[in-house]
Amino acid sequence: MNGADSVTEIVLKAMSRTPDPRLREIMASLVNHLHAFVREARPTEEEFEEGLDFLLRVGKASGAEKNEMILLSDLLGLSTLVTMINNAQGGGETDPALLGPFYRAQSPMCAPGENISRGEARAGEPLSVHGRVTDIRGKPVAGAIVDVWQASPVGLYENQDPAQPDRNLRGRFETNAEGRFHFRSVRPAGYPVPTDGPCGEMLRAQDRHPYRPAHIHFMISKEGYKTLVTQVFANDDNCIAADVVFGVTPALSGNFERQPDGGVRLDYAFVMQAGTRRIPKAPLP
Ligand code: BEZ
Ligand code: FE
Repeated sequence: MNGADSVTEIVLKAMSRTPDPRLREIMASLVNHLHAFVREARPTEEEFEEGLDFLLRVGKASGAEKNEMILLSDLLGLSTLVTMINNAQGGGETDPALLGPFYRAQSPMCAPGENISRGEARAGEPLSVHGRVTDIRGKPVAGAIVDVWQASPVGLYENQDPAQPDRNLRGRFETNAEGRFHFRSVRPAGYPVPTDGPCGEMLRAQDRHPYRPAHIHFMISKEGYKTLVTQVFANDDNCIAADVVFGVTPALSGNFERQPDGGVRLDYAFVMQAGTRRIPKAPLP
């Protein structure tokens, strides 16, 4: 065996006494696949330096306004893959979608029907959202917390946009006895993911567009149910079939219906599965 053949085995042996069995399993798998990747791709030393520098810059580009690390995982389809692996599909529950880098914890608790478009920034096409949450047998899930967040009509989240008040276009609602919730807002626009950092460089190098179709994020949670993290996409967005972070499924296409008196209405039925309530770690403060 020459050095290149034996190094994997030697590294695996060095890590083999890791006391935590899950950490041991994950790290062994990581080393096996990373080494296999290098054997296949055979990066030159310059390419290896460039790759490490890219990852370093992804870390440095992350901060209070932006989580470039999560963005990289999203753009590589990793976030969607992890979402799919950890959430059942096809049992009647709503399709999950990636959390994305713009979720913030502790959004304001809102009254039924409240408008989450606040302050001067209310300009935009009025949007009325009507949701219903049931379990897979169709029984209403009352008292669930529905956390919503969305981009503005110019396609920016409040944390990216000094023109919006803090926590604009974010809110938490509670489902009523019929499992229903309702809020008002303004229609979000589709938007490009941030392209001012290393992830933008990667997209340009791959000749990929940076756009996401217009959507609203929903995180629905209640004890006894698996937390549902998903997004509902505007069915009339011309980018719906080409989401740069691979979050769209056919069932997540929402009917953003134009109303005769102006504005848009979205009705959407959410179905939760039994399980454990878990709130993901927020990517932003
Ligand atoms: C979002 O949905 O907010 C999002 C997801 C992935 C990358 C950028 C933004
Ligand atoms: Fe989003």
